Amino acid sequence: MHHFRKIISLLLISGKTFALLIIFIACEKVESQEAKPVTLQNNASFPIGFAVDPTAMKDNVPYQKTVLDQAGSITAENVMKPSRINAQKGVFNFEKADYLIDVAKAQGKRVHGHTFVWYTNTAPTWMKQIKDSTELEAALKNYIQTVGTHFKGKVASWDVVNEAFDNATGEIRMASTDEKGQTLLNLGGVIGKDYVARMFRYAHQADPDALLFYNEYGQETNTKKLDAVLKMVADFKKRSVPVHGLGLQMHININTPNAGIENAIKKYADTGLLVHISELDIAMNPARTKDLAVTAELLDKQLHKYKFVVAAYKRIVPAKQQFGITMWGVGDANSWIPGFCSCTDFPLLFDSQYKPKPAYDGFIEGLK
Ligand code: XIL
Repeated sequence: MHHFRKIISLLLISGKTFALLIIFIACEKVESQEAKPVTLQNNASFPIGFAVDPTAMKDNVPYQKTVLDQAGSITAENVMKPSRINAQKGVFNFEKADYLIDVAKAQGKRVHGHTFVWYTNTAPTWMKQIKDSTELEAALKNYIQTVGTHFKGKVASWDVVNEAFDNATGEIRMASTDEKGQTLLNLGGVIGKDYVARMFRYAHQADPDALLFYNEYGQETNTKKLDAVLKMVADFKKRSVPVHGLGLQMHININTPNAGIENAIKKYADTGLLVHISELDIAMNPARTKDLAVTAELLDKQLHKYKFVVAAYKRIVPAKQQFGITMWGVGDANSWIPGFCSCTDFPLLFDSQYKPKPAYDGFIEGLK
């Protein structure tokens, strides 16, 4: 009897201890959930990225903190472009890109490479001067091999070719100069229209583990270019050209029709490839006026457009194809848009002091 009582009281005590333990664990759990700050990445089921600049990452504390707190992925805004890595023939400069990658790796962030091949006037001058097709192709192959090998194992993915299609015709670009008379890297004209496929093969040889993307802009409003990309992907699949994903740059504005945004996301998702919203920003000043006054109405329109884009991506792209959404810049003061449009604009999620704007709330709401 005495023993029996002892066992009962022991059971009672250990029962109480057990119950206390459960309460303790539950509290800990609630606390750790509460402690998790509201950030873009903490609210997302796919990587959220920023296009970043190494100098700002080094010198600008709020910029750096915003990126490290909010992002799960980074893209170099400029320093991994051929114009920066290989401005002079035979000379490869990896210093700034390496710095960025070291910071990203130390903080456990994914790195997306941007971009192996790009036609613009900023392409290396020595490359633009080559008019012989064999020579230009060899130069590009060498570039992709050298750069791809250098970053092998450090970058998860690459934009292999950027903006190959002509806005007016939807065909591969064949122009040697732009409308301002500046010289372009005329890849289509010199190498031929099938150059894109060969660049993907070279990229795959350089880093067989990297996910390879084709990146394009204006897919929300230019259906000729959208169709061109889809046709190219179908052709690549038939010929086993190694392509794993599509980048929708999505430099849009507060008036870009939602139907066009949805259509581009849906058509890209239907290819079965990974889909990356790769350079998102939402301009507030589509009329490109010099001095735009920011009103509550404009901020609200921007909030809703961000919410729409993010929610559409989440809803339309199957989870296993969601490569992520990358913002093209951090705070409004760093955005490329004012330089590009020669106007005032505030297209990003953070203001010039890196305070979250209403657009940020829209992005978070879209993630929910
Ligand atoms: C832009 C950068 O943001 C600018 O700083 C630079 O002067 C020019 O390039 N599409 C792209 C990006 O694929 O590489 C461009 O980035 C923006 C448009």
